[in-house]
Amino acid sequence: MSALFSPIEVKGVRFKNRVVMPPMVTLKADEEDRVTDTVVEHYAQRARAGTGLIIVEATAVESGAVWKGGLAAFADKHAPGLAGLVERIHAEGAAAAIQLVHGGPQASVEVTGGKRVGPSAVTPPDDGPIPRALTVAEIRMIEESFVEAAELAIEAGFDGVEVHGAHDYLLDSFLSAKQNVRTDEYGGSIRNRARMLVETCERTRARIGDRGLVWCRISIFNKLEAGFTREDLAELVPALAATGIDMLHVSTDGTFKEYFDSGKTIGQLVKGLCKLPAIVAGGLGDPLEAERAVAEGHCDFAAIGNAMYEEAGWTKQARATLHT
Ligand SMILES: Cc1cc2nc3c(=O)[nH]c(=O)nc-3n(C[C@H](O)[C@H](O)[C@H](O)COP(=O)(O)O)c2cc1C
Repeated sequence: MSALFSPIEVKGVRFKNRVVMPPMVTLKADEEDRVTDTVVEHYAQRARAGTGLIIVEATAVESGAVWKGGLAAFADKHAPGLAGLVERIHAEGAAAAIQLVHGGPQASVEVTGGKRVGPSAVTPPDDGPIPRALTVAEIRMIEESFVEAAELAIEAGFDGVEVHGAHDYLLDSFLSAKQNVRTDEYGGSIRNRARMLVETCERTRARIGDRGLVWCRISIFNKLEAGFTREDLAELVPALAATGIDMLHVSTDGTFKEYFDSGKTIGQLVKGLCKLPAIVAGGLGDPLEAERAVAEGHCDFAAIGNAMYEEAGWTKQARATLHT
């Protein structure tokens, strides 16, 4: 019996297996950031292969665009395309979620004209233009734009929304002690640096209610250099769980890698800090490794990034490899 191909239910949503396509940008949206046929086909193929959950790529909330060709979910014009996309993913037998993002200090110059925003006016990780520090009123407005985008996505038919709190984009940049040198309630202690992400999850969770799942994606590997500690993780994870989110998605630089000299993987650490089901991504392109990750409790769902991007039939092939 394969652990990877066993079903699981989360808050009334049934997933036929633990194979997840994590969010991966295609950059094939049209000039108004709407879904195109190419985008639909890309996801439909990976759903058809038997993938349990498809998480549609980072999709911009209002004023949060990251790349040219990226999807967006803030205006009426974006809704029909997203609804059509969900319909196809469901028709191919997979559950569908969508990742919501604000680019912040990582937004490409091409879409912002160099005018970026962030927690503080410090050099961003990509060494590009220095962002302008957001005011508290602006922070709260952006939190609301995540809520509005989530509303649009759930109305379009998605089973869940993922708040992008990873990879140095806006919400994650607040978590980084290097990017965030604020002295107000959104800077300083980990509790303060996590405030925008926590509030965003809280507000989104409250608005969506029982109409869909809400969770967030975090990454730790990109903040180790900025001094992110095991103690920070021990504050962050329970704070996120307390918002009422339904899962946690951890993006790693290696699912089986030991973190913080703890003798544990990031999935084991996170699962030890909360009761939420965990999706973990990072180096699981070999089906045997994905199977092991779930079977040994490093995660509840195995997300297959690059390997599934390259090979649409990954899930079907994995099933054959595992003789299931
Ligand atoms: C082409 C490509 C696009 C990606 N786009 C996103 C994205 O939109 N949002 C995100 O959180 N991660 C994104 N990622 C990261 C993946 O979701 C995943 O975490 C990463 O590839 C590690 O998993 P892997 O080792 O299985 O590839 C992207 C990765 C690739 C290869």
